[in-house]
Amino acid sequence: MGEFIMGELTVKGKMTSEKVYILAIETSCDETSVAIVRNGSEVLTNLVSSQIDIHKAYGGVVPEVASREHVEVITLLIEQALVEAKLDKNQLSAIAVTYGPGLIGSLLVGIAAAKTLSFVLGIPLIGVHHIAGHIYANHLQKALEFPLVALIVSGGHTELIYMRDHLSFELLGETQDDAAGEAYDKVGRILDLPYPGGPQIDRLAAKGEANIPLPTAQMDNPFDFSFSGLKSAVINFVHNTEQRGETVISEDLAASFQQVVVDTLVDKALLALQEKGANNLIVAGGVAANSSLRASLTEKSKSLNFNLTIPKLDYCTDNAAMIGSVAYYYYINQRFSTLDLNGIANLALSEESISELDKATLRKDYIASRDQLREGERARQSELISQEIIASEWFKQAEVVALYRAHGSELDLDAVLEAGWTAGKQMLLPRVERINKGLGFWPVEKGEELVAGKYGIMEPRINGKKPFIITEIDVILVPGIVFDQQGYRIGYGGGYYDRFLGEKIADKSRPQKTAKKPYTVGVGFKEQVVERLPVKIEEHDIMLDAIMAEGVDFNVNGK
Ligand code: KG4
Ligand code: ZN
Repeated sequence: MGEFIMGELTVKGKMTSEKVYILAIETSCDETSVAIVRNGSEVLTNLVSSQIDIHKAYGGVVPEVASREHVEVITLLIEQALVEAKLDKNQLSAIAVTYGPGLIGSLLVGIAAAKTLSFVLGIPLIGVHHIAGHIYANHLQKALEFPLVALIVSGGHTELIYMRDHLSFELLGETQDDAAGEAYDKVGRILDLPYPGGPQIDRLAAKGEANIPLPTAQMDNPFDFSFSGLKSAVINFVHNTEQRGETVISEDLAASFQQVVVDTLVDKALLALQEKGANNLIVAGGVAANSSLRASLTEKSKSLNFNLTIPKLDYCTDNAAMIGSVAYYYYINQRFSTLDLNGIANLALSEESISELDKATLRKDYIASRDQLREGERARQSELISQEIIASEWFKQAEVVALYRAHGSELDLDAVLEAGWTAGKQMLLPRVERINKGLGFWPVEKGEELVAGKYGIMEPRINGKKPFIITEIDVILVPGIVFDQQGYRIGYGGGYYDRFLGEKIADKSRPQKTAKKPYTVGVGFKEQVVERLPVKIEEHDIMLDAIMAEGVDFNVNGK
């Protein structure tokens, strides 16, 4: 084995060492908020200017008043956020902003501020769905674990969402009329409580008894909600009691109302976990502050043994930190908005999912474009890249080099194979193992006859030899269909290289450490390299250390 140290950079290494600072803006309702979040989970600052006191006078949010108030404070908050985070605006990586759902006039204030910053600083703009933000408020507390069910209960929303992975949102059900928080606020008004009614009813309910029968709505889709019938039943109860000349015991009515709401939310959330086979429940939105909902879910999570996360109170209600968290995942997946981003009052969440179908389409398109390269051009680029590899420092120092024999229209590396033999290196070629869809790298000597293996690719014979294990290999030249300049690769879909390179191997001499890994170099035609792959990056996608293609100068390790 050579002394060549290829670095202990792991697949995740690059993502976490790269510092992504996102300034996020949230103005969808009556909270103006600006936050700066690092790498999706570290909140450097989260400033919230609430308009509750202003709207209290009207007993609810007045849209025109809300947008005017946002205008008043937004610029100050942005300036203050940078001061508190001790960051210069030129250190920001992107600007994120809620673009829906919400009050259109309020949304537009935040969007205008975000566009201006993005344009002036020359950094990406990321439009974020408000509910995606509420979900990712949990990520500020503890890294999201999938699959999960999210129960969103706020002043404007009551939704159950299933997530298989980051940025994959499946709506299971939602309210058909009032949101849970809205029902709380309306009942608060009936009971003459100050706005917002939610926390007031929560407090009263703790002192009362749930002894008034109130209806639970039955829905066709068991994951849908409806609270308007419950609200009407409360109104009727108050009227009837007053007509009889009796006084309403607010504490008991609050407790009875709260019990129906909380039982409904808990039952449906548990049903969703069961139906989806998920073991993680996260809760978000202002109503997640409710003491009875928290107590009931905590109790169930223990008795039924599932993981429950509820954000701390500051992150339950509207805030920009949660927007900055989800925006990080859009950032690493390069899902950016253009400067014509508009506010959408009733934006749907499922459309915010990053599609995975794209990978198959990308594969087809890129294989087609590679097949169309003219023979002379293919030979020219193959020769150029082979000579660059042979001249590189890492190739010269490597003693064991794994590469491949070109199949179909792949870049041809036979010149590298020859040069390796001439220099006395141990050269390896892959064999697809029939048993567990694995990839093995086998030694091959000059003049040795190859045989057609699975997929018709020429492979070395076994002939009593043994494959090399990953830690014995210095350099692996990896073929692919598309590469990007971050080191991501899209292969043929069989996952052979991903599995081989992603395997975790303990270093026997230092068991706590991962053993030395080969230096991985993606090789291809210049037509196969894009700046960023427009598909969702998945957990098992490996990252290459370098990409070799004409005119591409990409090297993660800086070697
Ligand atoms: O998430 P949020 O700020 O509003 C939207 O984005 O829509 O949540 C505000 C809502 C209000 O309806 C408020 O009454 C309710 O959350 N809320 C509560 C409690 N604290 C706030 N509802 C019930 N119990 C609480 N403790
Ligand atoms: Zn909200």
